[in-house]
Parts: sequence; structure tokens; C-alpha cells
Amino acid sequence: MTEPAPGAAHATPLLFTPFTLRGVTFPNRIVIAPMQMYVAKPDGLATDWHFQHLAKYAIGGAGTVMTEAMFVDPVGRNTYGDLGIWSDAHVAGLRRIVDFLHAQGSLAAAQLHHSGPKSGRRRPWDGFHPLDETDAARGEPPWQAMSSTDHATTTGWRAPRAMTIPEIRTLLEAYGQGARRAAEAGFDVLDIHAAHGYLIHSFLSPINNDRKDAYGGDFAGRTRFALEVAESVRRHWPADKPLFFRLSCVDRLPGGWEIEDTIALARALNERGVDVIDCSSGGIRDMTSITQFARTRQKLKRGHQVPYADAVRRATGIPTMAVGVILDGPQAEAILAGGRADLIAIGREALYDPHWALHAARALGADAGWSRWPPSYGWWLNQRETIGIDYEG
Ligand SMILES: Cc1cc2nc3c(=O)[nH]c(=O)nc-3n(C[C@H](O)[C@H](O)[C@H](O)COP(=O)(O)O)c2cc1C
Repeated sequence: MTEPAPGAAHATPLLFTPFTLRGVTFPNRIVIAPMQMYVAKPDGLATDWHFQHLAKYAIGGAGTVMTEAMFVDPVGRNTYGDLGIWSDAHVAGLRRIVDFLHAQGSLAAAQLHHSGPKSGRRRPWDGFHPLDETDAARGEPPWQAMSSTDHATTTGWRAPRAMTIPEIRTLLEAYGQGARRAAEAGFDVLDIHAAHGYLIHSFLSPINNDRKDAYGGDFAGRTRFALEVAESVRRHWPADKPLFFRLSCVDRLPGGWEIEDTIALARALNERGVDVIDCSSGGIRDMTSITQFARTRQKLKRGHQVPYADAVRRATGIPTMAVGVILDGPQAEAILAGGRADLIAIGREALYDPHWALHAARALGADAGWSRWPPSYGWWLNQRETIGIDYEG
């Protein structure tokens, strides 16, 4: 796709058209992907780091800014630096962030999470492996991780404990209470993290789930927990606000979860009030969703997960969000123009360029006079451009 000249007038690109779900209108199609920062206080409270991390994407023109995974139960924390939503004490710090996002004209989205078998690990830059006695000596002792199964699925990891049915019931209510708190903090959109080998995915995938009770076995058994989480969250999340569900659409492993499973589950989730399938992949046996690429020495391809968003959307008619190595405005616009997704999530490229959305608008010729920028920035940039720069001088 050739890039139009920045600022040139032409029809609004799809990336900058609004999108309405239930009672909420997304100002544009750009969603900042959930990205854990691992810097919360030990009690899971948000800090100024979280505030500035999310605030800058709203300043940078993203229509929707999603929080990192927020934990509905401290036992499900990934690391000691994770953000909590398991207690009412978490609401005030989150509301401060939500209010700022709203003041910039962006929607605020929250992600609810439980790490399941991957709970209790070091922060990424400290190795990302399970906590051990060295960590205990410096005040971060390991704890027992919970999963669908008693078997460790990631090589070299401690065995989790399979959740009992009473524990599942308690956790379903914790998801509901997390949704209630997200509503109280003022969030507009909620995303349930069911991907990347974490708790809900550990129930879904036949690679991981070897239960013999009602939560294992066939497709109906393995999807029961996911559907009950969606039901519990929907009971506590306002009817006029959209609910997203993030899935690893394929395990990318023999005998694993396949795109046909995702399509069938998407329909069942939609019947329970899920509005958007957030289409990721991988992670059931690996440390992260992308470790498999490093292990098998494959490079990441641009938009490598877009085919999943496309397949779910075409098969079900349910809106989808595409994520994964979407690098610039023209690439995002082509995904929307091809009818392959309804929303575009940007992760690492937003870490690199917090003004990603504003730069995408310029690349797509949809920012005449720097009008999309906050006036405190845009007025000056427009003035500089109007005067012109002598690059030879
Ligand atoms: C620093 C970082 C933290 C992440 N944390 C989360 C998270 O909290 N929840 C989640 O669902 N995915 C998480 N992811 C995955 C991203 O949401 C996204 O799916 C992934 O980075 C691929 O998109 P990208 O290529 O645009 O970065 C994280 C990724 C990064 C880079």
C-alpha cells in the first residue's frame, strides 16, 4: 500500500472511524494491548508508573487504552509486581487513571486475569522462571500455583495443583467481583484473559486439561470454566458496556486447541454476552506466547495472528480484535479494509512509539493541520511545519 502524503485531505481511513458496541462508541479502531509492567506495589496497588504508562497512549491518540492484566485473586498473580483488582482498595488508584484517559477522549479498558499454572514467577528481566529459595531469601517466597491439572506443562516448572470444584466456584465469584470493581473504577470495556497458557487456557486446551470431572474431557467439559467465567463477569458488568475475551486461537502444537475450537467457543461466548474475540495464540507449553518462535528459531511475521481474527469474524460474524506485530498505520488500515478484524491492538510498537496512533493518522493522510494532536503539542508542530525547516542549512 502506498502512503498518502501526511496531512493530505481524503476520506477518513477506517482506522479512524468510530465503532459502536452496546452503549459504547470507540473513537477509533486502535486499542493499546494489555501489557504487564511488573512494578505494582506488593499489595497490587497501581503506582505513578502505571498512570504515566497508560496516560501517554491516550495523549498519543489511541481510541482505547487497555490496562495490563489485573488479578482477581492474589494466588493467580504472575509475579510480585502484578496489578490487583481482588480488593476494593484497588479501585481508587485505577479510577485516577480512568479519569485521565477519559479527559483525553479515550476509552478505558481493563483486563481481568489469573495466571493459573504460570503463577509465582520472577519478573521477565530476572529470568521469568518460577520463584525459588533465592527469591524467598529476598522476601519473595514461592507459592502453590493452581491449574486445571496437577501436571507441570512447561518444562522445568513446579507442578501446579488441580483446582477443586469448590475452589472453582469461589474463583468464578472473584471474577465477578473483579468486573464489579472495574465498573466502579469507571472502565468502559472489559477483556477476560483466557490465552497464553494461563488458567482459563489450561482448562481449554486438550494438551493441558486431563481432568476426569465436569470441567475436563470433551469440548463441553473443557470449555465449561471459560463459559462460566464469562457468565459470572457478565452478571456484574453493566449491560451497556462491551465485554472482550482474549483467546489463544490455536496452540500451534499437535493435539492442541485448533481454530475450529475457537470458532465454536466464540459462538457460545457470544450467546453469554461476549461482544469481541481478542485473537492471540500460543503459550500452552512455553514461557510466553512467543517463546515458541525463539525456541524453533522462527522470526515473527507481520500480522502473524491476523488470520485467526479473520477466520473467527468470517465464520461467526462476531467482531474481532487483531493483535501481534502490527507495525504501522497502512498495515492496520489494510487489515480493516480487508474485513479481517474490527479493532487493532498495538503492543510493543506502542512501547517504542507511544504516539503510534498519531503517527498512523499522519501516514494515512488523516491529520491535516496536526489537528489530532493535543493542542499543547499540535499547535507548535503545525507552526514549525508551516514555517518550514531548511534541512540543508
Ligand atoms: C511488556 C508486555 C506485557 C504483556 N502483558 C500482557 C498482559 O498483561 N495481558 C495479555 O493478554 N497480553 C500481554 N502481552 C501480550 C500483548 O498484549 C500482545 O498480545 C503481544 O505483545 C503481541 O502484540 P505486539 O506484537 O503488538 O506486541 C504483553 C506483551 C508485552 C510486550
